[in-house]
Amino acid sequence: MKKSILFVGAEVMPFAATGGLGDVLGSLPTALAAKGVDVRVVMPLYSAVGEKYRAEMKKEAEFTAYLAWRQQYCGVYSLQKDKVTYYFIDNEYYFAREGLYGQFDDGERYAYFCTAVLEMLPHIGFFPDILHAHDWQAALSVVYLRQKYSQDERYAGIRRVFTIHNIEYQGKYDFYILGDVFALSEADRGVVEYDGCINLMKGAIECAEAVTTVSQRYADEIMSPEYSHGLYHILRRYADKVSGILNGIDYAYYNPWTDPVLAKHYSPKRRGGKDACRSALRADLNLEDDNKVPVISLITRLASHKGLDIVAEAIRGILDETGAQLVVLGKGEAKYEEFFKALEAERPDKVRALITYDRDLSRRIYAATDIFMMPSKSEPCGLSQMIASRYGAIPVVRETGGLADSILPYWEDKEGAMHGNGFTFAGYTAGELYERTVAATALWKNGEKRKAFVEKIMTVDFSWAASADKYIALYNDLL
Ligand code: GLC
Repeated sequence: MKKSILFVGAEVMPFAATGGLGDVLGSLPTALAAKGVDVRVVMPLYSAVGEKYRAEMKKEAEFTAYLAWRQQYCGVYSLQKDKVTYYFIDNEYYFAREGLYGQFDDGERYAYFCTAVLEMLPHIGFFPDILHAHDWQAALSVVYLRQKYSQDERYAGIRRVFTIHNIEYQGKYDFYILGDVFALSEADRGVVEYDGCINLMKGAIECAEAVTTVSQRYADEIMSPEYSHGLYHILRRYADKVSGILNGIDYAYYNPWTDPVLAKHYSPKRRGGKDACRSALRADLNLEDDNKVPVISLITRLASHKGLDIVAEAIRGILDETGAQLVVLGKGEAKYEEFFKALEAERPDKVRALITYDRDLSRRIYAATDIFMMPSKSEPCGLSQMIASRYGAIPVVRETGGLADSILPYWEDKEGAMHGNGFTFAGYTAGELYERTVAATALWKNGEKRKAFVEKIMTVDFSWAASADKYIALYNDLL
């Protein structure tokens, strides 16, 4: 019989997303479905889900969900796309709000969501072989499945997988809402208890039969105090069920040969279009179009773990030394937004700070970029370095998490053959970032080498092909 998997997560591209989690939940299911797996995905029906998709949805069920003393309406809608079925949990009180998370009652909202996911199964007549939950917002689905539903024979056979996309966000709450909001009893207390509070991610690690994270290096890193944000004790205890599987990117969507927003298409062998993309972006941003000057870019959430402190320290020196232009796209912490806006004011001929999240614009920038900086302090996987490579932008990354697993350092052997697919450094220092960025720029300025290297990085395989097989092997092991 065909295996069936239910993905549970808080954001899914293209319906509603804020970052990498949405990318993965929007592309891994398609890759699994292409290999013959019955994959379904469930997410909340936020206001952000557009009319275009709502118009295609079909109502599957409607029932009352109980969360402690609360009784809440639950509607389930569905939609088919590329052999994957997507379910949407409808409740306007919880999800008809601006934005996805960051609300005062997120704990309750996702407790409701996880309850609704388990309650919907008999209503839609589907009990998956595996429930695969992602990040803290979905953690309770794994906890509830084991603690509250496993006595019910319809649920008893469902295997439980939990994936950590970022260990920094764990879902921590005070104990006094254990029963009242999370509808857990004193007997469940030990399962979610960690460091004197409720920790939903810890609960899922405890209750899952397999825990994965999004690169092998990160799987190793989170066993240490430095990277685990406090969870290393529990991860070490369960080390035998923890593994790392590197993410891929959606090769149909991120394709400079077909991407509809680019000024001109290009491919590894026919790269001329990249120059046209650079010129077009410069024209839009009112930057000088000089082919001897590279464009360096940063496309990122402006959060501290993205390494922005060392960027701030190194960037003036880099611009002075290389003569490059800098384009920044992203929003986030005020201090970084202000830093980049001030840098643009200081160097209006060289710097553009675009303080926004815009996927179409991001791809036009990738296409226009020569050197892509990603010096993260920590990075579970990172997708931007892969997208940058596919768009022919040379990555400069710090050797951490998925950055270390996907970008290997450039070097030349005695015969002049090139190895690696980017510029990397180990220490979290402005000096190393400066030095590697200047080195990448020097390679770019050498026309012959640039040609060979850009072609090489564009052909590295960052598709889901290999990793989808690893998930299938994991599912098979559990079944
Ligand atoms: C999170 C991580 C990022 C990863 C993404 C998808 O956003 O911070 O490194 O690529 O999840 O797994």
